[in-house]
Amino acid sequence: MNAVLLQYFLLLISFLHHASSNSVPVFNAIYSFGASYEDTGNLAILSPTSNPMKLPYGETFFDSPTGRASDGRLVIDRIASYLGLSFIPPSLAQGQDFSKGANFAVYGTTTLNISFFQKNKIRINILKNTTLSVQLEWFENQKPSICKCNTTCMKFFTKSLFMLGKFGVNDYLSMLFAGKTIDFINSTIPLVVKTIRSAAERLLRQGVMHLVVAGIIPTGCSPVILTYFASTNRSDYDSLGCLQVYNNIGMYHNDLLSDAVKQLRVEFPRAKISFVQYYEPIIDFLRNPRQYGFTSGTELLACCGKGEPYNFNLSTGCGQIGVPACQNPSTFINWDGLHLTDTSYKIIADGWWKGPYADPPISGFLIGSGLNSVKRMI
Ligand SMILES: *[C@@H]1O[C@H](CO)[C@@H](O)[C@H](O)[C@H]1NC(C)=O
Ligand SMILES: *[C@@H]1O[C@H](CO)[C@@H](O)[C@H](O)[C@H]1NC(C)=O
Ligand SMILES: *[C@@H]1O[C@H](CO)[C@@H](O)[C@H](O)[C@H]1NC(C)=O
Ligand SMILES: *[C@@H]1O[C@H](CO)[C@@H](O)[C@H](O)[C@H]1NC(C)=O
Ligand SMILES: *[C@@H]1O[C@H](CO)[C@@H](O)[C@H](O)[C@H]1NC(C)=O
Ligand SMILES: *[C@@H]1O[C@H](CO)[C@@H](O)[C@H](O)[C@H]1NC(C)=O
Repeated sequence: MNAVLLQYFLLLISFLHHASSNSVPVFNAIYSFGASYEDTGNLAILSPTSNPMKLPYGETFFDSPTGRASDGRLVIDRIASYLGLSFIPPSLAQGQDFSKGANFAVYGTTTLNISFFQKNKIRINILKNTTLSVQLEWFENQKPSICKCNTTCMKFFTKSLFMLGKFGVNDYLSMLFAGKTIDFINSTIPLVVKTIRSAAERLLRQGVMHLVVAGIIPTGCSPVILTYFASTNRSDYDSLGCLQVYNNIGMYHNDLLSDAVKQLRVEFPRAKISFVQYYEPIIDFLRNPRQYGFTSGTELLACCGKGEPYNFNLSTGCGQIGVPACQNPSTFINWDGLHLTDTSYKIIADGWWKGPYADPPISGFLIGSGLNSVKRMI
């Protein structure tokens, strides 16, 4: 090989190396908003004696409770690890470095403001004022300590992944337990979705370039609804054993939210916005439990809990003394009546990362045009 050719090869290799590291913009941080499906420790700080701070919460992965509403990791924990990041610290933790991310999610929080529930005489079971707009305020207050808000700072956040979690379930559950009708709840869905959309716009206007927006679960398949809103009319249940009317709420919410995301893409054409699902994967698990390693026959039951027939009762909830968990949580979809097991969350995270439960898959955010054009050049 002559010297010129060698030089050429070395140049090409260094160019390829440069191109590939440029075209895979490794995210510097994750900033997350949400409720119990996303909370990695804020509840634990606000209420150290709450159930998710007791075993068997955390038994599968962390060996001790962390405040996560599961036996192990949540979706955000998996996504962080796929991006090469550590666990994202809860935003209320003292003395933390939030330059690699912060998680503003709080267990139990609603989307709508507390004033909405007061006005409609609906008791909400939340600890503190931690609703969606409050979480956004926390982020905006924290921004200057993450980086000075000049153009360099804006650049920092363009390389961060922002996640708007599963907002809406606590709003609808609070209304149901307060005795509101399905028609009333249905009439609030456009407002809930509009509130999530406004939150997304508020972030995108601040320069956010990578945003994930999550839909809600089929609540009609969850032990909490199946136990407390059971029907004697068999035709209220679908072929999977779920209560249809509550799933219709979820479908309507998800349809409106998916439309809102499409509009956001038009409004912010340079941003990448992914709509991700909890609804479809849970239905897939229930349709073919064994395909995912779940035991058939117990797919609608909570792993941790006590009560007939769904292994659930609010007075003997997971985390209370004498309330057992199933032998092998990885064979259960549902963990405690409302939240999912480590295994369920992993399959969902994989589906958000590379499809099919995301539009587009989050891993697609990483693919730049640089490497592809280099390959074509060769
Ligand atoms: C909720 O409160 C925030 C201010 O805290 C306000 O900007 C927003 O409009 C309110 N949203 C609703 C739906 O009332
Ligand atoms: C919740 O917090 C927001 C902003 O921090 C505030 O505007 C609102 O009045 C609070 N609501 C209640 C009921 O405390
Ligand atoms: C902008 O913010 C960065 C990151 O905090 C800081 O290093 C830099 O000095 C700031 N520049 C100006 C002009 O304030
Ligand atoms: C909710 O309202 C929408 C729009 O009016 C309607 O299409 C849908 O059937 C309603 N869903 C339920 C469960 O009542
Ligand atoms: C059972 O529910 C179906 C539809 O959900 C309804 O048409 C039927 O009248 C109900 N039957 C009784 C006995 O309430
Ligand atoms: C929950 O358990 C209590 C105490 O055993 C019982 O009285 C109640 O009926 C149960 N509730 C449901 C919905 O099963």
